[in-house]
Amino acid sequence: MTKERYSRIIGSGVYIPDRILTNRDLAMRVDTSDEWIVTRTGIRERRVSDKDNPTQGAIALEKALKSAHLKPSNLDMIICATNTQEQLFPAVAAKIQAKIQEGEEEPQYMAAFDIQVGCSSGLYAECIANAYIKSGSINTVGVVATDTLTKITNYSDRSTCVLFGDMSAAEIITVSSSPGFIAFDLGTDGRISHLISCHIYSDKFHGKSYLQMDGKKVFNQAIRRMEETARNILKKANYSFSDINLFLAHQANQRINENLLERLDIPRDKYFSNLEKYGNTSSPSLLVCRHEAKQEGKLHSGDLVLSVVVGSGLSWGASLYKEI
Ligand SMILES: CC(C)(COP(=O)(O)OP(=O)(O)OC[C@H]1O[C@@H](n2cnc3c(N)ncnc32)[C@H](O)[C@@H]1OP(=O)(O)O)[C@@H](O)C(=O)NCCC(=O)NCCS
Repeated sequence: MTKERYSRIIGSGVYIPDRILTNRDLAMRVDTSDEWIVTRTGIRERRVSDKDNPTQGAIALEKALKSAHLKPSNLDMIICATNTQEQLFPAVAAKIQAKIQEGEEEPQYMAAFDIQVGCSSGLYAECIANAYIKSGSINTVGVVATDTLTKITNYSDRSTCVLFGDMSAAEIITVSSSPGFIAFDLGTDGRISHLISCHIYSDKFHGKSYLQMDGKKVFNQAIRRMEETARNILKKANYSFSDINLFLAHQANQRINENLLERLDIPRDKYFSNLEKYGNTSSPSLLVCRHEAKQEGKLHSGDLVLSVVVGSGLSWGASLYKEI
């Protein structure tokens, strides 16, 4: 009888840029206030990177490898989740592969590719890694989620510039005889893809392209879709909300997530958030939450973790994970 293959996370790392941009800093640039931003979003500060995605992504991946006690050569694949790639091609993942093996006499040529699913990208990358591992074709994947949203943020638009920050996170996902990842639920409604977008070749803003968003509509969709996907995945995997030990949700707006907690009847103490410190960092958001929850002792062996995300597309997704 062939043994069932599962996947699990055996290491993680993050790159957090040093430079802090506070609400008061922003209030000097646009007509806003610390009070408005905190009450309407829950964000107090965010980070601004002076590095590109390959550099900060490679730092996060090196830290994740170290925490898993592995070397770059142990990776069979690198998947990079990003929405802010500096070039249309080559893939950021290819550059990360080269950076983490700089100076190696015999570098390994594992597959390396990018995926782009808005703020849902990190969870989608975990899902792809899990599928490859379960299929039996590979054993170990480095998932990197990296974004530098401040580079596509319009700092004269107060409705978006208060929301975003830069960050990278990485996880090492490997084959396991028990889950790990129990289930995923993914979805997209392409009819409303215009709600969050960024044109590549736009000359609207003096040749520079900025993120555009219909905040109110995204707000409502985010609650609706994250609630639906959370309910779907639990039904699919035959669990109930009372089984959940830790609830992680995309960090976009604290009011969105508080609304979700109420609708799903999840107690506040099961929810981990770092939105206050980092704002919305897009693809790394979920991975950074998991990493910090573990570091802060809020994720224990045997815990069941429900994660939900939403992003441009409009895309959404959920995962159910058992901490080993
Ligand atoms: C963007 C967002 C914070 C705006 O909050 P909101 O409560 O919906 O605010 P509204 O857009 O209704 O605007 C209310 C008022 O605040 C004003 N406002 C918007 N941004 C402001 C700011 N930074 N400071 C002060 N006032 C602001 C608006 O101009 C509007 O003024 P008006 O009534 O005079 O026209 C909120 O819609 C949001 O978080 N949306 C989802 C974002 C998201 O999740 N994106 C990523 C998903 S992956």
